[in-house]
Amino acid sequence: MTMAMTTGASAGTTLGASAAEKGRYFGAAVAVNKLSTSAYTTILNREFNSVVAENEMKWASNEPQQGVFNHSSGDRLVSHAQANGMSVRGHTLLWHAQQPGWAQGMSGSALRNAAINHVTQVATHYRGKIYAWDVVNEAFADGGSGGRRDSNLQRTGNDWIEAAFRAARAADPGAKLCYNDYNTDGINAKSTGIYNMVRDFKSRGVPIDCVGFQSHLGTSLASDYQANLQRFADLGVDVQITELDVMTGGNQANIYGAVTRACLAVSRCTGITTWGVRDCDSWRGSDNALLFDCNGNKKAAYTAVLNALNAGTGTPTTPPPTTPPPTTPPPTTGGCSASVSLNSWNGGFVASVKVTAGSAGTNGWNVSVTLPSGASVTNTWSATASGSTGTVRFANVDYNGRLTAGQVAEFGFQGTGSGTGMTPTCTAS
Ligand code: G3I
Repeated sequence: MTMAMTTGASAGTTLGASAAEKGRYFGAAVAVNKLSTSAYTTILNREFNSVVAENEMKWASNEPQQGVFNHSSGDRLVSHAQANGMSVRGHTLLWHAQQPGWAQGMSGSALRNAAINHVTQVATHYRGKIYAWDVVNEAFADGGSGGRRDSNLQRTGNDWIEAAFRAARAADPGAKLCYNDYNTDGINAKSTGIYNMVRDFKSRGVPIDCVGFQSHLGTSLASDYQANLQRFADLGVDVQITELDVMTGGNQANIYGAVTRACLAVSRCTGITTWGVRDCDSWRGSDNALLFDCNGNKKAAYTAVLNALNAGTGTPTTPPPTTPPPTTPPPTTGGCSASVSLNSWNGGFVASVKVTAGSAGTNGWNVSVTLPSGASVTNTWSATASGSTGTVRFANVDYNGRLTAGQVAEFGFQGTGSGTGMTPTCTAS
Protein backbone atom coordinates (compact mmCIF):
# COMPACT_ATOMS: atom_id res chain seq x y z
CA MET A 1 0.00 0.00 0.00
CA THR A 2 1.03 3.62 -0.33
CA MET A 3 2.11 5.13 2.94
CA ALA A 4 0.17 8.13 4.19
CA MET A 5 2.66 10.94 4.46
CA THR A 6 0.57 13.79 5.73
CA THR A 7 -1.59 14.56 8.72
CA GLY A 8 -4.03 17.34 9.34
CA ALA A 9 -1.57 19.03 11.68
CA SER A 10 0.77 21.74 10.46
CA ALA A 11 4.24 20.62 9.40
CA GLY A 12 7.03 20.80 11.90
CA THR A 13 4.89 21.12 15.02
CA THR A 14 3.98 17.48 15.60
CA LEU A 15 6.00 14.30 15.35
CA GLY A 16 3.98 12.91 12.45
CA ALA A 17 3.91 16.10 10.42
CA SER A 18 7.59 16.75 10.96
CA ALA A 19 8.53 13.18 10.02
CA ALA A 20 6.30 13.43 6.94
CA GLU A 21 8.22 16.52 5.84
CA LYS A 22 11.26 14.23 5.74
CA GLY A 23 9.33 11.54 3.83
CA ARG A 24 9.04 9.34 6.90
CA TYR A 25 6.41 8.24 9.38
CA PHE A 26 6.34 8.58 13.15
CA GLY A 27 4.22 5.91 14.78
CA ALA A 28 3.00 4.49 18.06
CA ALA A 29 2.04 1.05 19.29
CA VAL A 30 -1.63 1.15 20.20
CA ALA A 31 -3.57 -0.87 22.75
CA VAL A 32 -6.79 -1.04 20.78
CA ASN A 33 -9.10 -0.88 23.82
CA LYS A 34 -7.61 2.54 24.63
CA LEU A 35 -9.01 4.02 21.42
CA SER A 36 -12.12 4.82 23.44
CA THR A 37 -10.11 6.90 25.94
CA SER A 38 -10.18 10.44 24.61
CA ALA A 39 -7.06 11.64 26.46
CA TYR A 40 -5.15 8.86 24.71
CA THR A 41 -6.70 9.24 21.28
CA THR A 42 -6.24 13.00 21.29
CA ILE A 43 -2.47 12.58 21.53
CA LEU A 44 -2.40 9.67 19.10
CA ASN A 45 -4.33 11.55 16.42
CA ARG A 46 -2.44 14.81 16.91
CA GLU A 47 1.12 13.47 16.97
CA PHE A 48 1.37 10.18 15.09
CA ASN A 49 0.84 9.22 11.45
CA SER A 50 1.44 5.48 11.80
CA VAL A 51 0.15 2.80 14.17
CA VAL A 52 0.89 -0.78 15.08
CA ALA A 53 -1.19 -3.05 17.30
CA GLU A 54 0.66 -3.70 20.56
CA ASN A 55 -0.91 -7.16 20.91
CA GLU A 56 -4.07 -7.52 18.82
CA MET A 57 -2.60 -8.84 15.56
CA LYS A 58 -0.54 -11.54 17.27
CA TRP A 59 -1.29 -15.20 16.62
CA ALA A 60 -2.92 -15.87 20.02
CA SER A 61 -5.21 -12.89 19.46
CA ASN A 62 -6.43 -13.46 15.94
CA GLU A 63 -6.47 -17.26 15.55
CA PRO A 64 -7.51 -18.40 19.05
CA GLN A 65 -8.68 -21.77 17.73
CA GLN A 66 -7.10 -23.40 14.71
CA GLY A 67 -8.76 -22.07 11.57
CA VAL A 68 -11.07 -19.74 13.54
CA PHE A 69 -9.96 -16.17 12.96
CA ASN A 70 -10.98 -13.08 14.90
CA HIS A 71 -9.83 -9.85 13.32
CA SER A 72 -12.21 -7.53 15.15
CA SER A 73 -9.59 -5.63 17.22
CA GLY A 74 -7.11 -5.43 14.36
CA ASP A 75 -9.85 -4.22 12.02
CA ARG A 76 -10.78 -1.55 14.54
CA LEU A 77 -7.22 -0.24 14.52
CA VAL A 78 -7.01 -0.28 10.73
CA SER A 79 -10.30 1.66 10.50
CA HIS A 80 -9.00 4.21 12.98
CA ALA A 81 -5.80 4.57 10.97
CA GLN A 82 -7.62 4.96 7.68
CA ALA A 83 -9.99 7.55 9.13
CA ASN A 84 -7.03 9.58 10.40
CA GLY A 85 -4.56 9.29 7.50
CA MET A 86 -2.20 6.94 9.33
CA SER A 87 -0.26 4.04 7.82
CA VAL A 88 -0.31 0.67 9.60
CA ARG A 89 2.55 -1.63 10.54
CA GLY A 90 1.44 -5.22 11.01
CA HIS A 91 2.85 -6.97 14.09
CA THR A 92 3.45 -9.89 13.87
CA LEU A 93 2.68 -12.90 11.69
CA LEU A 94 4.99 -15.46 13.37
CA TRP A 95 6.71 -15.32 16.75
CA HIS A 96 7.77 -17.93 19.30
CA ALA A 97 5.79 -16.02 21.97
CA GLN A 98 2.08 -15.25 22.25
CA GLN A 99 1.13 -18.29 20.22
CA PRO A 100 -2.32 -19.76 20.83
CA GLY A 101 -2.31 -22.83 23.04
CA TRP A 102 -3.23 -25.12 20.16
CA ALA A 103 -0.11 -24.06 18.21
CA GLN A 104 2.17 -24.27 21.25
CA GLY A 105 1.30 -27.95 21.41
CA MET A 106 2.11 -28.66 17.75
CA SER A 107 5.33 -29.62 15.99
CA GLY A 108 6.75 -30.78 12.68
CA SER A 109 4.86 -30.47 9.42
CA ALA A 110 1.51 -30.01 11.20
CA LEU A 111 2.90 -26.86 12.88
CA ARG A 112 4.61 -25.70 9.67
CA ASN A 113 1.36 -26.03 7.72
CA ALA A 114 -0.61 -24.27 10.45
CA ALA A 115 1.96 -21.46 10.59
CA ILE A 116 2.02 -20.90 6.84
CA ASN A 117 -1.75 -21.01 6.76
CA HIS A 118 -1.79 -18.38 9.50
CA VAL A 119 0.55 -16.13 7.52
CA THR A 120 -1.53 -16.57 4.40
CA GLN A 121 -4.91 -15.99 6.03
CA VAL A 122 -3.90 -12.96 8.07
CA ALA A 123 -1.91 -11.27 5.30
CA THR A 124 -4.81 -11.92 2.91
CA HIS A 125 -7.32 -10.45 5.35
CA TYR A 126 -5.33 -7.22 5.58
CA ARG A 127 -4.20 -7.23 1.94
CA GLY A 128 -3.66 -3.68 0.66
CA LYS A 129 -4.01 -2.11 4.13
CA ILE A 130 -0.60 -2.75 5.68
CA TYR A 131 2.46 -0.64 4.92
CA ALA A 132 4.91 -3.15 6.42
CA TRP A 133 4.47 -6.53 8.13
CA ASP A 134 6.74 -7.92 10.81
CA VAL A 135 6.55 -11.30 9.12
CA VAL A 136 8.84 -12.95 11.66
CA ASN A 137 9.66 -11.55 15.09
CA GLU A 138 12.60 -12.33 17.38
CA ALA A 139 13.88 -15.54 15.78
CA PHE A 140 17.53 -15.02 16.71
CA ALA A 141 19.18 -15.99 19.99
CA ASP A 142 20.65 -13.54 22.47
CA GLY A 143 24.27 -13.90 23.43
CA GLY A 144 27.27 -14.48 21.26
CA SER A 145 26.19 -17.32 19.01
CA GLY A 146 24.67 -15.23 16.23
CA GLY A 147 22.37 -18.19 15.58
CA ARG A 148 18.69 -18.90 15.69
CA ARG A 149 16.65 -19.07 18.88
CA ASP A 150 15.29 -22.50 19.69
CA SER A 151 11.49 -22.63 19.34
CA ASN A 152 8.76 -24.94 18.09
CA LEU A 153 8.84 -23.01 14.80
CA GLN A 154 12.62 -23.32 14.47
CA ARG A 155 12.34 -27.06 15.05
CA THR A 156 10.14 -27.37 11.93
CA GLY A 157 13.29 -26.64 9.89
CA ASN A 158 15.64 -23.72 9.33
CA ASP A 159 13.69 -22.64 6.25
CA TRP A 160 10.60 -21.65 8.26
CA ILE A 161 11.48 -17.96 8.03
CA GLU A 162 11.79 -17.90 4.27
CA ALA A 163 8.63 -20.00 3.94
CA ALA A 164 6.81 -17.34 5.95
CA PHE A 165 8.17 -14.50 3.81
CA ARG A 166 7.20 -16.23 0.56
CA ALA A 167 3.69 -16.92 1.82
CA ALA A 168 3.29 -13.32 2.99
CA ARG A 169 4.45 -11.97 -0.36
CA ALA A 170 2.00 -14.18 -2.23
CA ALA A 171 -0.86 -13.09 0.03
CA ASP A 172 -0.16 -9.34 0.00
CA PRO A 173 2.31 -8.32 -2.72
CA GLY A 174 1.98 -4.62 -1.81
CA ALA A 175 3.14 -4.84 1.81
CA LYS A 176 6.78 -4.42 2.72
CA LEU A 177 7.95 -7.55 4.50
CA CYS A 178 10.20 -7.09 7.53
CA TYR A 179 12.24 -9.19 9.91
CA ASN A 180 12.03 -7.63 13.40
CA ASP A 181 14.20 -8.14 16.51
CA TYR A 182 15.67 -6.59 19.69
CA ASN A 183 19.20 -6.31 21.13
CA THR A 184 20.26 -5.43 17.60
CA ASP A 185 21.22 -1.85 18.47
CA GLY A 186 24.73 -1.75 17.11
CA ILE A 187 27.03 -4.21 15.42
CA ASN A 188 27.02 -7.32 17.63
CA ALA A 189 26.80 -11.09 17.23
CA LYS A 190 23.00 -11.10 17.09
CA SER A 191 22.66 -8.27 14.57
CA THR A 192 25.40 -9.86 12.48
CA GLY A 193 23.53 -13.18 12.45
CA ILE A 194 20.47 -11.35 11.14
CA TYR A 195 22.59 -9.40 8.68
CA ASN A 196 23.91 -12.68 7.25
CA MET A 197 20.37 -14.04 6.91
CA VAL A 198 19.19 -10.93 5.07
CA ARG A 199 22.20 -11.06 2.75
CA ASP A 200 21.48 -14.72 2.04
CA PHE A 201 17.77 -13.99 1.41
CA LYS A 202 18.66 -11.19 -1.00
CA SER A 203 21.09 -13.41 -2.89
CA ARG A 204 18.52 -16.21 -3.28
CA GLY A 205 15.51 -14.02 -4.11
CA VAL A 206 13.63 -14.62 -0.87
CA PRO A 207 11.24 -11.67 -0.64
CA ILE A 208 12.42 -9.43 2.21
CA ASP A 209 12.04 -5.65 2.07
CA CYS A 210 12.92 -4.34 5.50
CA VAL A 211 14.46 -4.98 8.89
CA GLY A 212 12.93 -3.67 12.11
CA PHE A 213 15.15 -2.63 15.01
CA GLN A 214 12.99 -2.70 18.11
CA SER A 215 15.31 -0.45 20.13
CA HIS A 216 14.11 -1.08 23.67
CA LEU A 217 16.95 0.97 25.13
CA GLY A 218 18.63 1.50 28.49
CA THR A 219 20.74 4.43 29.63
CA SER A 220 23.21 4.50 26.75
CA LEU A 221 23.18 4.07 23.00
CA ALA A 222 25.66 1.96 21.04
CA SER A 223 28.10 4.27 19.28
CA ASP A 224 27.65 2.28 16.06
CA TYR A 225 23.83 2.43 16.14
CA GLN A 226 23.68 4.41 12.88
CA ALA A 227 26.45 2.39 11.23
CA ASN A 228 24.49 -0.76 11.98
CA LEU A 229 21.34 0.62 10.33
CA GLN A 230 23.44 1.68 7.36
CA ARG A 231 25.05 -1.74 6.83
CA PHE A 232 21.58 -3.31 6.58
CA ALA A 233 20.38 -0.55 4.23
CA ASP A 234 23.42 -1.27 2.06
CA LEU A 235 22.09 -4.81 1.56
CA GLY A 236 19.11 -3.30 -0.27
CA VAL A 237 16.44 -3.33 2.44
CA ASP A 238 14.62 -0.52 4.23
CA VAL A 239 15.24 -0.17 7.93
CA GLN A 240 12.75 0.99 10.55
CA ILE A 241 12.90 1.71 14.28
CA THR A 242 9.94 -0.35 15.36
CA GLU A 243 9.46 -0.39 19.16
CA LEU A 244 11.45 2.51 20.52
CA ASP A 245 11.40 3.17 24.26
CA VAL A 246 14.22 4.39 26.49
CA MET A 247 14.94 4.08 30.22
CA THR A 248 14.14 7.28 32.10
CA GLY A 249 17.00 9.35 33.54
CA GLY A 250 19.35 12.11 32.51
CA ASN A 251 20.16 10.55 29.17
CA GLN A 252 16.66 9.77 27.98
CA ALA A 253 16.14 12.86 25.85
CA ASN A 254 19.66 12.61 24.40
CA ILE A 255 19.15 8.99 23.41
CA TYR A 256 15.78 9.70 21.82
CA GLY A 257 17.36 12.55 19.86
CA ALA A 258 20.32 10.43 18.77
CA VAL A 259 18.10 7.59 17.55
CA THR A 260 16.02 10.06 15.54
CA ARG A 261 19.11 11.64 14.00
CA ALA A 262 20.48 8.20 13.12
CA CYS A 263 17.30 7.28 11.27
CA LEU A 264 17.25 10.56 9.37
CA ALA A 265 20.90 10.09 8.40
CA VAL A 266 20.16 6.73 6.76
CA SER A 267 18.27 7.32 3.54
CA ARG A 268 16.52 3.94 3.72
CA CYS A 269 15.33 4.44 7.31
CA THR A 270 11.64 5.02 6.56
CA GLY A 271 10.20 5.64 10.01
CA ILE A 272 10.21 5.39 13.78
CA THR A 273 7.59 3.85 16.07
CA THR A 274 7.51 4.27 19.85
CA TRP A 275 6.14 1.29 21.81
CA GLY A 276 3.18 3.14 23.29
CA VAL A 277 1.97 6.71 23.74
CA ARG A 278 2.19 7.79 27.43
CA ASP A 279 4.54 6.46 30.12
CA CYS A 280 1.65 4.75 31.86
CA ASP A 281 0.68 2.90 28.67
CA SER A 282 4.10 1.29 28.44
CA TRP A 283 4.94 -2.37 29.09
CA ARG A 284 8.05 -0.97 30.83
CA GLY A 285 6.01 0.43 33.74
CA SER A 286 8.17 2.51 36.07
CA ASP A 287 10.86 3.06 33.43
CA ASN A 288 8.77 6.01 32.21
CA ALA A 289 10.16 5.15 28.81
CA LEU A 290 7.97 7.12 26.38
CA LEU A 291 7.57 10.68 25.05
CA PHE A 292 4.47 11.74 27.01
CA ASP A 293 3.99 11.56 30.77
CA CYS A 294 0.97 9.92 32.34
CA ASN A 295 -0.98 13.18 32.15
CA GLY A 296 -0.29 13.47 28.45
CA ASN A 297 2.30 16.24 28.78
CA LYS A 298 5.20 16.38 26.34
CA LYS A 299 8.50 15.39 27.98
CA ALA A 300 12.01 16.65 27.25
CA ALA A 301 12.45 13.51 25.17
CA TYR A 302 9.56 14.66 22.97
CA THR A 303 11.24 17.98 22.31
CA ALA A 304 14.52 16.22 21.51
CA VAL A 305 12.78 14.05 18.91
CA LEU A 306 10.84 16.92 17.37
CA ASN A 307 13.96 19.10 17.14
CA ALA A 308 15.89 16.25 15.54
CA LEU A 309 13.11 15.66 13.02
CA ASN A 310 12.96 19.34 12.13
CA ALA A 311 16.74 19.63 11.82
CA GLY A 312 17.05 16.56 9.61
CA THR A 313 17.62 16.74 5.91
CA GLY A 314 16.83 14.48 3.01
CA THR A 315 13.92 12.41 1.91
CA PRO A 316 14.21 8.67 1.57
CA THR A 317 13.45 7.18 -1.79
CA THR A 318 12.74 3.53 -1.31
CA PRO A 319 11.53 1.12 -3.94
CA PRO A 320 8.19 -0.68 -3.62
CA PRO A 321 8.23 -4.32 -2.50
CA THR A 322 9.99 -6.44 -5.06
CA THR A 323 9.06 -10.00 -5.85
CA PRO A 324 11.94 -12.32 -6.69
CA PRO A 325 12.29 -13.56 -10.25
CA PRO A 326 10.39 -16.76 -11.05
CA THR A 327 12.36 -19.97 -11.23
CA THR A 328 11.12 -20.65 -14.79
CA PRO A 329 11.03 -17.70 -17.21
CA PRO A 330 7.59 -17.28 -18.77
CA PRO A 331 7.24 -18.20 -22.45
CA THR A 332 6.68 -15.20 -24.68
CA THR A 333 3.93 -16.48 -26.98
CA GLY A 334 0.20 -17.07 -26.49
CA GLY A 335 -2.55 -15.10 -24.82
CA CYS A 336 -0.88 -15.42 -21.44
CA SER A 337 1.90 -17.31 -19.75
CA ALA A 338 2.38 -18.56 -16.21
CA SER A 339 5.36 -19.45 -14.10
CA VAL A 340 5.48 -21.01 -10.68
CA SER A 341 7.89 -20.42 -7.85
CA LEU A 342 7.85 -23.08 -5.18
CA ASN A 343 8.61 -23.03 -1.50
CA SER A 344 8.57 -26.57 -0.13
CA TRP A 345 9.17 -28.33 3.12
CA ASN A 346 8.80 -31.93 4.19
CA GLY A 347 5.08 -32.63 3.70
CA GLY A 348 3.91 -29.38 2.16
CA PHE A 349 4.51 -26.43 -0.12
CA VAL A 350 3.41 -22.95 -1.09
CA ALA A 351 3.31 -22.15 -4.81
CA SER A 352 3.40 -18.55 -6.02
CA VAL A 353 2.19 -18.20 -9.60
CA LYS A 354 2.80 -15.25 -11.91
CA VAL A 355 0.44 -14.77 -14.85
CA THR A 356 1.78 -12.54 -17.62
CA ALA A 357 -0.58 -11.24 -20.30
CA GLY A 358 0.47 -11.61 -23.95
CA SER A 359 0.35 -8.84 -26.54
CA ALA A 360 -3.47 -8.73 -26.69
CA GLY A 361 -3.97 -8.42 -22.93
CA THR A 362 -6.62 -10.48 -21.12
CA ASN A 363 -10.20 -10.12 -19.96
CA GLY A 364 -9.71 -13.16 -17.77
CA TRP A 365 -7.36 -16.13 -17.43
CA ASN A 366 -7.20 -19.75 -16.40
CA VAL A 367 -4.10 -21.57 -15.22
CA SER A 368 -3.98 -25.37 -15.18
CA VAL A 369 -1.50 -27.16 -12.99
CA THR A 370 -1.05 -30.91 -12.76
CA LEU A 371 -0.05 -31.86 -9.25
CA PRO A 372 2.29 -34.77 -8.56
CA SER A 373 0.51 -37.85 -7.28
CA GLY A 374 -0.23 -37.65 -3.57
CA ALA A 375 -0.26 -33.84 -3.56
CA SER A 376 -3.37 -31.82 -2.93
CA VAL A 377 -4.32 -28.12 -2.77
CA THR A 378 -5.56 -27.03 0.64
CA ASN A 379 -5.80 -23.30 0.25
CA THR A 380 -5.80 -20.74 -2.60
CA TRP A 381 -5.53 -16.95 -2.66
CA SER A 382 -6.14 -14.39 -5.42
CA ALA A 383 -7.66 -17.09 -7.67
CA THR A 384 -10.51 -19.61 -7.57
CA ALA A 385 -9.50 -23.27 -7.70
CA SER A 386 -11.49 -26.08 -9.33
CA GLY A 387 -10.45 -29.42 -7.92
CA SER A 388 -7.71 -30.13 -5.44
CA THR A 389 -5.82 -33.13 -6.85
CA GLY A 390 -4.62 -34.16 -10.29
CA THR A 391 -5.09 -31.31 -12.75
CA VAL A 392 -6.34 -28.24 -10.88
CA ARG A 393 -7.67 -25.17 -12.70
CA PHE A 394 -7.19 -21.72 -11.20
CA ALA A 395 -9.37 -18.92 -12.56
CA ASN A 396 -8.83 -15.21 -11.99
CA VAL A 397 -10.89 -13.41 -9.37
CA ASP A 398 -12.72 -10.23 -10.26
CA TYR A 399 -9.89 -7.79 -9.50
CA ASN A 400 -7.03 -9.50 -11.35
CA GLY A 401 -8.51 -10.90 -14.58
CA ARG A 402 -8.20 -7.85 -16.78
CA LEU A 403 -4.55 -7.33 -17.73
CA THR A 404 -2.96 -5.11 -20.33
CA ALA A 405 -0.18 -6.48 -22.56
CA GLY A 406 2.75 -7.61 -20.45
CA GLN A 407 0.96 -6.92 -17.17
CA VAL A 408 1.44 -9.45 -14.37
CA ALA A 409 -1.06 -10.88 -11.87
CA GLU A 410 -0.06 -13.10 -9.00
CA PHE A 411 -1.90 -15.79 -7.11
CA GLY A 412 -0.86 -18.56 -4.81
CA PHE A 413 -1.86 -21.86 -3.33
CA GLN A 414 -0.77 -24.05 -0.49
CA GLY A 415 -0.67 -27.82 -0.68
CA THR A 416 0.19 -30.96 1.16
CA GLY A 417 2.61 -33.52 -0.25
CA SER A 418 5.29 -32.57 -2.74
CA GLY A 419 4.74 -29.80 -5.30
CA THR A 420 7.96 -30.43 -7.21
CA GLY A 421 7.78 -30.45 -11.00
CA MET A 422 4.52 -28.57 -11.61
CA THR A 423 4.33 -26.87 -15.03
CA PRO A 424 1.49 -24.35 -15.32
CA THR A 425 -0.30 -23.61 -18.59
CA CYS A 426 -2.21 -20.37 -19.06
CA THR A 427 -5.27 -19.67 -21.22
CA ALA A 428 -6.53 -16.13 -21.77
CA SER A 429 -10.04 -14.98 -22.54
O1 G3I B 1 -5.42 -8.83 28.15
C1 G3I B 1 -5.04 -9.66 29.25
C2 G3I B 1 -5.95 -9.40 30.42
O2 G3I B 1 -7.27 -9.77 30.08
C3 G3I B 1 -5.44 -10.22 31.60
O3 G3I B 1 -6.20 -9.92 32.73
C4 G3I B 1 -3.99 -9.91 31.90
C5 G3I B 1 -3.43 -10.76 33.03
O4 G3I B 1 -2.09 -11.10 32.83
O5 G3I B 1 -3.23 -10.18 30.73
C6 G3I B 1 -3.63 -9.37 29.63
O6 G3I B 1 -2.80 -9.68 28.53
C7 G3I B 1 -1.49 -9.19 28.58
C8 G3I B 1 -1.26 -8.33 27.34
O7 G3I B 1 0.09 -7.90 27.31
C9 G3I B 1 -2.16 -7.11 27.29
O8 G3I B 1 -1.88 -6.26 28.35
C10 G3I B 1 -0.52 -10.34 28.60
O9 G3I B 1 -0.65 -11.06 29.82
C11 G3I B 1 0.89 -9.84 28.45
O10 G3I B 1 1.75 -10.95 28.28
C12 G3I B 1 1.01 -8.97 27.23
O11 G3I B 1 2.31 -8.43 27.19
C13 G3I B 1 2.73 -7.96 25.94
C14 G3I B 1 4.02 -8.64 25.53
O12 G3I B 1 4.46 -8.12 24.29
C15 G3I B 1 3.86 -10.13 25.40
O13 G3I B 1 5.08 -10.74 25.24
C16 G3I B 1 2.93 -6.47 26.02
O14 G3I B 1 1.68 -5.81 26.24
C17 G3I B 1 3.56 -5.94 24.70
O15 G3I B 1 3.93 -4.61 24.89
C18 G3I B 1 4.78 -6.75 24.38
O16 G3I B 1 5.26 -6.31 23.13
C19 G3I B 1 6.50 -6.91 22.71
C20 G3I B 1 6.45 -6.98 21.20
O17 G3I B 1 5.29 -7.66 20.78
C21 G3I B 1 7.70 -7.66 20.65
N1 G3I B 1 8.90 -7.03 21.15
C22 G3I B 1 8.98 -6.85 22.59
C23 G3I B 1 7.75 -6.11 23.10
C24 G3I B 1 7.87 -5.83 24.57
O18 G3I B 1 7.89 -7.01 25.32
